[in-house]
Amino acid sequence: TQVYLNGNFMAPDQARISPLDRGFLFADGVYEVIPAYNGVLFRFDEHLQRLERSLAEIGIHNPHDPAQWRSLCDSLVAHNGGGNLSVYLQITRGAAQKRDHAFPVPPVTPTVFMMTSPVAVPAADSPDTAQGSLAITLDDIRWARCDIKSISLLPNSLLRQQAVEAGAAEAILLRDGFVTEGSASNVFIVRNGTIVTPPKCHAILGGITRDLVVELCVAEGLPVAEQEISESQLRQAEEIWVTSSTREIVPIIQLNNSPVGSGQPGPVWKTVARHYVNFKR
Ligand code: PDD
Repeated sequence: TQVYLNGNFMAPDQARISPLDRGFLFADGVYEVIPAYNGVLFRFDEHLQRLERSLAEIGIHNPHDPAQWRSLCDSLVAHNGGGNLSVYLQITRGAAQKRDHAFPVPPVTPTVFMMTSPVAVPAADSPDTAQGSLAITLDDIRWARCDIKSISLLPNSLLRQQAVEAGAAEAILLRDGFVTEGSASNVFIVRNGTIVTPPKCHAILGGITRDLVVELCVAEGLPVAEQEISESQLRQAEEIWVTSSTREIVPIIQLNNSPVGSGQPGPVWKTVARHYVNFKR
């Protein structure tokens, strides 16, 4: 395995970052997770655009142009044997001379770190034999700018841990009685045959997988709506799915220990999963 740090590829245990790095001290940075299938990065331009947006929102100068990012990510994938994996990429505001909440003046060089992780075969790859996963609902305790893909993930981590301790794969988050998203995913439901996902806003991350699922539904003429989902609509949903770059589209078969619909991955999920897999190929 090789990781990338500030211009060089190296073994993970050779990578050194200053404890004064603002990523370490303040979680002052942003990240992306980009899947690669057979060594080819998937939806790379979309991930890069979101990265550019996250950087701009927190005022970190983008250290590379798109062509440079592309070649760095391609090299990292190649250094790690290609195949199916995900690229984790993070940029922090860098290591300042002293700990100060305000940004260093003049700015310091941002820290760029990238690594790969193996990806499990997603449920959507085998729609007919997929088992489905369990989810619980929890209060969304996060901040008001969840549209920024910030490395500050303590609330997400606490929420996911609660889900895991309850035997579930994901926590579906509720704010003021409405679904926002999962602890590390976006949420879809099927309601009266229509596929519904919350509209993009500051309360959720604009998921690349979410956007692709909406795009595929539109292209295939499936009824899809970007609309608020109330807690009772979630509980009465015919189907619930969660989406992310690492897990693709996961059917949720139980919510808070009650079956969702038939308690099996639903027919609409199967249709959309097939379109997703075909698109990937
Ligand atoms: N997380 N919402 C949150 C809070 C997320 O952390 C993620 C992804 C998503 C889905 O976004 P996308 O489809 O672009 O992956 C939604 C990544 C995978 C992670 O933190 O590992």
